[in-house]
Amino acid sequence: MENYSPMKRPYSLIFITSCLLFFSCANNESKQKTKITIGFSQCTTGDDWRKFMHEEMLREISLYPQYNIELIVKDAHDNNQQQIEDVEALVASDIDILLISPNEAKPLTPIVEKVYDAGIPVIVIDRKIDSRKFTAYIGANNLLIGKEAGRLAADILKGKGKIAMVTGLKGATSAIERSEGFQSIVGEYPNMEIVHTLEGEWLPAIAQQLTDSLFQADQDIDLVFAQNDPMAFGVYLSASKYGFKPHIIGIDGINIPNGGLENVLHGYMDGTIYYPTGGDKAIQLTLDILNNKTVEKFNYLSTFRIDADNARTLTLQGEQIRQQYEKIDLQRNFIASMNHLIQRQRTFLLLLSLTIGLLVLLIGSVIYFLYKKNQINKVLDNKNKTIEQQNKKITQQRDEVIKALKIAEEATETKLSFFTNLSHEFRTTLNMISLPVNDLAAAEKDSPHYQKLRIIQQNTNRLVRLAEEILDFRKIEKHKSSLLISRDNLATFLHKLVTSFTPQAEEKNISLTSVVPEKMEMDFDGEVLDKVVFNLLSNALKNTRHNGTISIKVAAENEQVLIQVQDNGIGISEEHLPYIFDLFYRAPHDHEEGNEQGTGLGLALCKELVYLHSGKLTVSSQLDVGSIFTICLPRYQDKTTITATSSVEKTGKSLEPDFSKTVLIVEDNPGLLNMLADVVSKYFQVIKAKDGQEGLACALEQHPDLIISDIFMPEMDGIELCEEIKKTPGTFQVPVILLTAIDSYKTKVSGFDIGADDYLTKPVNEHLLISRVKNLMESRDKFKHSLGKYQFISESIAHADQADQDFINECVTIIHKHISEESFHLDQLAEKVNMSRSSLYRKLKKVTDIKGVDFIKKIRLQYAAKILLNEDKGVNEAAWLCGFSDVKYFSKCFAKEFNHNPSKFKNAILSARDIKDFV
Ligand code: FRU
Repeated sequence: MENYSPMKRPYSLIFITSCLLFFSCANNESKQKTKITIGFSQCTTGDDWRKFMHEEMLREISLYPQYNIELIVKDAHDNNQQQIEDVEALVASDIDILLISPNEAKPLTPIVEKVYDAGIPVIVIDRKIDSRKFTAYIGANNLLIGKEAGRLAADILKGKGKIAMVTGLKGATSAIERSEGFQSIVGEYPNMEIVHTLEGEWLPAIAQQLTDSLFQADQDIDLVFAQNDPMAFGVYLSASKYGFKPHIIGIDGINIPNGGLENVLHGYMDGTIYYPTGGDKAIQLTLDILNNKTVEKFNYLSTFRIDADNARTLTLQGEQIRQQYEKIDLQRNFIASMNHLIQRQRTFLLLLSLTIGLLVLLIGSVIYFLYKKNQINKVLDNKNKTIEQQNKKITQQRDEVIKALKIAEEATETKLSFFTNLSHEFRTTLNMISLPVNDLAAAEKDSPHYQKLRIIQQNTNRLVRLAEEILDFRKIEKHKSSLLISRDNLATFLHKLVTSFTPQAEEKNISLTSVVPEKMEMDFDGEVLDKVVFNLLSNALKNTRHNGTISIKVAAENEQVLIQVQDNGIGISEEHLPYIFDLFYRAPHDHEEGNEQGTGLGLALCKELVYLHSGKLTVSSQLDVGSIFTICLPRYQDKTTITATSSVEKTGKSLEPDFSKTVLIVEDNPGLLNMLADVVSKYFQVIKAKDGQEGLACALEQHPDLIISDIFMPEMDGIELCEEIKKTPGTFQVPVILLTAIDSYKTKVSGFDIGADDYLTKPVNEHLLISRVKNLMESRDKFKHSLGKYQFISESIAHADQADQDFINECVTIIHKHISEESFHLDQLAEKVNMSRSSLYRKLKKVTDIKGVDFIKKIRLQYAAKILLNEDKGVNEAAWLCGFSDVKYFSKCFAKEFNHNPSKFKNAILSARDIKDFV
């Protein structure tokens, strides 16, 4: 089925139009160019009569612009043989018709017959041939002309006198017929006689030469008849030479300068017979023949006598005719130029039509391609729709799979969380066992139970490590393990660690050596590296037989630090070596020689921890030869990852007790509460609370210098407690350390969000805990000192009695509750404390010496300062949280209050006092 395109119809129309235009141009061109080749063999072109004939022919040809007529003229120069050759040459050049004016009849007859027989039309002009084998004759009747010349002579001589006749070429029919005609008339007059006949051959020079001789011998001649005007003029010249004046008559009478007509007018001749050239008629006849029109065989042209009587009139007529000819010529030239113009226009039109045609083709092609493109686009659209539908289906399927995965993940997560929490509980419980056992072992070194205590101690430690490893893995697995990098001396760090293994090494008489440069500063997380090296050394000790050797070597290479743990123990077989870092993979020799059974966690954890540290852990080992574990770590870490370590932790300086300070410990597990209290009470005074609620009450009443709180507790959990502490004016400066077995990132973050100052995971290292407590207290003291002027409320009420202080604190608590409400003013506060506005105003002024309105504003600004210092919030948010909707106004008030622009406040305070730990 053919597709219909709306653009096809106009395109076809334009195309057809341009085709028609093109073909019409081409057609016109070809019509006009119908070619006709006329071959004209002239006996001579040397005289004016024949030149005149040519002009007539050309003029006539120009009147037929519809034909492309070519006239080829050959001049035989009065030579018969030459004329025969000319005819042959013309026939060879593929002429359509032959025109011939034969020099002499007899010699030219055969060639004319031949051409005629060949089917080429032949027109004989002026002179005839001796045959009728030609198409047509055109010219005057020379017999009649000869007779008219005879009558003219008789009239001039009045029927009496002697005549000399100068003839044309003897063999030319015109000459023969003229003689015959003339003689027949002269014969009619008994007193007229032709006394001399001379053959002038049509040429004036010969005629003159012949009459010269004649007139020398005989001047008794009354009239000379020359058969053409040129010869008659030759006779005149000859007679003049001798002063002889015979009557002279000729034939031709053409109206050109020195022509017969003019010579009659000048009196050189007595008369002449007009012999028409007939060039125009010859062309007309030619076209008729070629157009297959029926023509007469003999076409005679009319003739007349010219003498002194009509010569002037004829001259004038001739002049007019010439002028007409000139006009015709002008017209002809104009027509030629118009034709040229038309030709050019046709060429232009042709080019135009070609261009239009090409344009149409081009436009057609473009339309066609657009149409095709459209079709393709439709197909593509359909395909796209199908793809879209498929995509939709795939997306739905994917969403379903994701949903299923999520459900599975959540189920797994629930299970893992359960086991993780269980591990925490194990670790907490183990810690509770470990701390008293350690104390006992230290105190009972000489007791017979010491060895048993040591076994309990070692196994407890092992279980603690195991629980820690499980928890560590969980952390890494959840990508929630972050490094605490600090720049420190690796040598000191390793020395301590290696030394801690000495007793175990000594037990098996193993030589434990370390080759570590005295000072090797690098960036590392002590806790992470401790775990890794501890694990590798434990493994080495476990896998090295009695009397074996273990060495630790450290080398720095191209910004890398290599830590190598080498032993000459049982080694690992080639077959097992590739798997030893795999989780839960346990090499078979783990079971040998009563070795402690591994968990398959240690090395996998080490590998992950080293990787976390941007390093690499590798092994090379040979069965029964030993193993080399190599930790490769970058020596320096990106500065941003380096966390400043507290000076106490860093320098490891001894922790002096400070019993002027009080620490509140909030823990729901009584065992752990006591244990923590035992540890902390070595350094500070301790207040104990069994849950968050009790903790908050203690904090409000006893103003501790620091609070250590568990997170998960009944009644009020650690996070709620922290929140309350931080938003209560009397306690918000008290540092809070959240302490929990749940080492989860989420909990840690929410702890900091509500303003917790630190976060420690149970079981805590005593040294670490006390260090942190001391640091926070120091920082807080510094901050308190430096921030003194911002503590206007507590300062301003320090001198007041308890009842007033309680009242102010109540007001502050109420304002805090409504702090984000911009519309909360003195009226609302008065209502809340059951007082009139003016009573409240007076009371506030009395206790704090601050005006009521300013009091609320100050509380708002103080709270904003706290937000800006403690929380990662911008100025806009702080303003908004404190009830300022106009940030500009807030900034202005803030700057007036604290001498710092709110946006620069935190930096200004921190840089001035170096209290990073506070934030
Ligand atoms: C020209 C001419 C004329 C004459 C005619 C006769 O060549 O000599 O003068 O009338 O030929 O054929």
